[in-house]
Amino acid sequence: MKNSIKRDGSPESAWQHGLPSVTTTRPSKINETVYDCLVVGGGITGLSSALLLRNAGKNVILAEANTIGFGTTGGTSAHINNFADTTYKEAESAFGKEGASLFARAIAEGQELIKTNTATHQIDCDYEVKTAIVYAEDKEQVDQLTSLFAGLATVGIPARFTDTIPVSIPFKKAISIANQAQFHPLKYLRGLLKAYMAAGGNIVEHTRIAKVSTENENHIAEANQMTIRAKNIIYATHMPPNINAMNLVCAPYRSYVLGVKLQSGEYPDDLIYDLEEPYHYFRTHTVAGEKLLFAGGNDHKTGHEDPEKQIADLEKYLRKHFYISSVKYKWSSQYYIPVDGFPYIGQLPFTAKGIYCATGFNGNGMMLGSVAAKILSDLIVSGENIYKDLFDPCRIKPVDSFKEFVSENADVAYHFIADRFNIHETDSLKRIEPGTGKLIKVEGKKIAAYRDEKGVMHALNPTCTHMGCIVNWNQEELSWDCPCHGARFDIDGKVLTGPATIDLSQIQE
Ligand code: FES
Repeated sequence: MKNSIKRDGSPESAWQHGLPSVTTTRPSKINETVYDCLVVGGGITGLSSALLLRNAGKNVILAEANTIGFGTTGGTSAHINNFADTTYKEAESAFGKEGASLFARAIAEGQELIKTNTATHQIDCDYEVKTAIVYAEDKEQVDQLTSLFAGLATVGIPARFTDTIPVSIPFKKAISIANQAQFHPLKYLRGLLKAYMAAGGNIVEHTRIAKVSTENENHIAEANQMTIRAKNIIYATHMPPNINAMNLVCAPYRSYVLGVKLQSGEYPDDLIYDLEEPYHYFRTHTVAGEKLLFAGGNDHKTGHEDPEKQIADLEKYLRKHFYISSVKYKWSSQYYIPVDGFPYIGQLPFTAKGIYCATGFNGNGMMLGSVAAKILSDLIVSGENIYKDLFDPCRIKPVDSFKEFVSENADVAYHFIADRFNIHETDSLKRIEPGTGKLIKVEGKKIAAYRDEKGVMHALNPTCTHMGCIVNWNQEELSWDCPCHGARFDIDGKVLTGPATIDLSQIQE
């Protein structure tokens, strides 16, 4: 039997189920070639960019640190919407009416690119057009919903108030928005990969780009005893690697998903969202012939909160409103909230010309990752794109309306101090049960310790190799997560998620 496609966490996501990994062939003569573009990262942003550039006649190489779909695309809930977590009202207050309209146009373009790719490359990815239902449960949420509705009207997206919602949850007001969609993200990604390889695109998996220098307008990336030279580099990795300007303007978050079977056998057909804080959503998807309700939310900043409790709370919430016969899937994934509500897509600040980033997609990575691919490929091919200035990573914008980010980012400063003065609680080695991890202190030294199911201890130096914060244990994904900028490491210290590029060091007995 073939190995399943891999992901940056321990439990299997519904998208991985039954989907064998794809074998890619490493191109020859990498060391002797100067590519038009090196795309770093094999998720939706990276593969969409690589395909667009290849179809524009560019010589492209895509480098993925693990395997295709390993990052957030393998763990997304795969909603395709024409509205976003940053509402059009918030967008208008920070960027003006024109900015909000352009943001709506960008989201719609991302939505359209997925649809076009699916049709053009005949990708069998369960793409289905759906209606979104957003509902309010109290007075405060009704105000929020009214503002959401007004924002949609401002940018010309039709929505209407509705008297019914397709779940048995008491509500005060609800709106419905047509022309949304859902799909299977890894099937889509494999379709893009196939099209890219058929078009002559190059790919190298298990290749982490850790260091880049620039000489005579060519960028030189070093990885795995290999040198890749390229005129342009796209970091399609959410956070670009190592210390960079994006660390200061994007906060990493975890989001949870449960895939459950309902006793009634009746599943809602729409994409459903509440307005709680943190919010919940529900949608139906058939995986391997089995209809499931996907419910998600309970988001929190990476490395903060107890992931085990978060998912248990989500299940409790779900059981309050649905009769569940079994829980088939539980997993979580990572995304980044931008300081001013808009993504950062374009030239990476303080780096040589032709090095690009695409991050801060909030919970809207499918559309924004897709439109980022269009923006970056246009910038490389012609130097121009209509959204170039709006999403320019060098912009400075007011942050007043994004209080959550400001308060959350203040805790980065807290961790820098607390982690150096031993404020964290520690525990003794003996009390670590098999299959669990803990931060402990042995002879005054902090250790990130995990005891595997066989009783073998895996001990690591818990100091994050990015900027020195102390990692925290994530029992749900069996990973060590950094509370500062979201780097994640597996039980043996191997980097799962950047911006760190160096593994945590192992402590030998
Ligand atoms: Fe920045 Fe860990 S991710 S210090």
